[in-house]
Amino acid sequence: MRHQICVLTSLIVCFIVQYGNCERDDVGGGFVQTKGIHFILNGNPLYVNGFNAYWLMTMASDPSTRSNVTSAFEQASRHGLNLGRTMAFNDGDIKPLQISPGSYDEDVFRGLDFVISEAGKFGVKLILSFVNNWKDLGGKIKYVQWARERGENITNEDDFFTNPVVKQYYKNHVKAILTRNNTINGLLYMDDPTVFSWELMNEPRFPNDSGNSIQNWVTEMAAYVKSIDSNHLLHIGNEGFYGETVPERKQLNPISINFGTDFIQNNQIPQIDFATFHLYDDRWLENTTERAKSVYVDKWIEGHLKDAETLIGKPIILAEFGKSSRESPGYSVAKRDSYFQKIYNATYTSAISGGSCAGAMFWQLLSQGMDSYGDGYQVILENSPSTAQIIKQQSTKMSNIKF
Ligand SMILES: *[C@@H]1O[C@H](CO)[C@@H](O)[C@H](O)[C@H]1NC(C)=O
Ligand SMILES: *[C@@H]1O[C@H](CO)[C@@H](O)[C@H](O)[C@H]1NC(C)=O
Ligand SMILES: *[C@@H]1O[C@H](CO)[C@@H](O)[C@H](O)[C@H]1NC(C)=O
Ligand SMILES: *[C@@H]1O[C@H](CO)[C@@H](O)[C@H](O)[C@H]1NC(C)=O
Ligand SMILES: *[C@@H]1O[C@H](CO)[C@@H](O)[C@H](O)[C@H]1NC(C)=O
Ligand SMILES: *[C@@H]1O[C@H](CO)[C@@H](O)[C@H](O)[C@H]1NC(C)=O
Repeated sequence: MRHQICVLTSLIVCFIVQYGNCERDDVGGGFVQTKGIHFILNGNPLYVNGFNAYWLMTMASDPSTRSNVTSAFEQASRHGLNLGRTMAFNDGDIKPLQISPGSYDEDVFRGLDFVISEAGKFGVKLILSFVNNWKDLGGKIKYVQWARERGENITNEDDFFTNPVVKQYYKNHVKAILTRNNTINGLLYMDDPTVFSWELMNEPRFPNDSGNSIQNWVTEMAAYVKSIDSNHLLHIGNEGFYGETVPERKQLNPISINFGTDFIQNNQIPQIDFATFHLYDDRWLENTTERAKSVYVDKWIEGHLKDAETLIGKPIILAEFGKSSRESPGYSVAKRDSYFQKIYNATYTSAISGGSCAGAMFWQLLSQGMDSYGDGYQVILENSPSTAQIIKQQSTKMSNIKF
């Protein structure tokens, strides 16, 4: 009841004070929350169909390529995609956001401002990631290098998770993002309901570590994010590899190396609001038969959804999956389509039966004319009518789920 009054009041205030912003509220204003194993938005369960697009900030920071961002969101929204995932970082790479620790390129930051405000206009919510495990766009190795250049005695990129100077650089970046005042819509990022969730890191790994380093790092950084921004959801960004908490589960890992993560224990940390996992069977199970991969996909998905339901007690999103024309043997669009269909069916089946899965996000969406950004996984909706149709169908099915 109190909630309804609040919504009513804010709508009235919104109309009176700032008519222009009401459109944003109509298409899904408010912060996403969780309740048990489900997402909630404005009191209703929320299911998603999503895409990845790591390139948005880069394209948006150059006026001559900015329209790629608009057309990506326009196409996404036309196909019912309501969640995008992108990077709120570029650390010392080409066209960096963070040039050196604490020093930012204002033009690139304005690019990110544009990405967020444009997503809001098209009713797409965003997952924004703070740093990369990999060297693309800087990554943990760049943070370690920065610290070394300032006299820290470190050489291993995985000291990222433990070195105090590096951890402080990371926290400073988190704060710079959360407290950024968007030059286009005038909202601090931490106050902007377009943000679905903050992501601590894209695919954290610490090979051969006991698992304590990432567990401790997530605990510390999650508390830090929440100390500044308690409105938004927070998740880790991990791929879903299992550790020691439930040793039998390690059989689901694609190979028997130790990734230094523990899907269950990491996601049980109280400040982590939901779980994610990724899926790249063609890459992980190179040289295995199609049949074996297909069985693996089913088990990988089923295991994570079940653990999210029973051991973690939070919603889960398959935050990356895709089919690469370069990496998948015998690739064709038809094969990609049936692969997407398989993934979508598994997520929908969970969601419609009240399970933990809130949706899946394909890697990756590109706009027309961005062929040079193609990595084999790209979906250009205008150019792939059959895939686009499957995506749109899934959006409709997910958004029609009502309880
Ligand atoms: C999209 O980006 C590409 C590559 O940078 C550029 O050549 C093209 O002009 C852009 N297209 C639009 C519509 O902005
Ligand atoms: C740097 O660290 C290594 C390994 O921890 C140690 O062996 C070495 O003595 C240290 N060097 C300096 C200059 O402190
Ligand atoms: C953000 O910037 C806008 C426009 O300059 C300003 O009106 C608003 O007060 C700023 N918000 C905060 C929290 O500083
Ligand atoms: C991890 O351990 C394995 C097996 O002991 C070894 O082959 C590999 O090089 C190690 N990886 C790293 C990054 O240290
Ligand atoms: C897969 O097969 C190729 C070609 O035979 C080989 O080069 C590659 O190392 C194999 N990959 C794995 C993971 O075994
Ligand atoms: C969809 O997924 C469910 C559960 O994973 C499975 O039982 C069913 O056979 C699948 N249907 C299709 C058409 O793939």
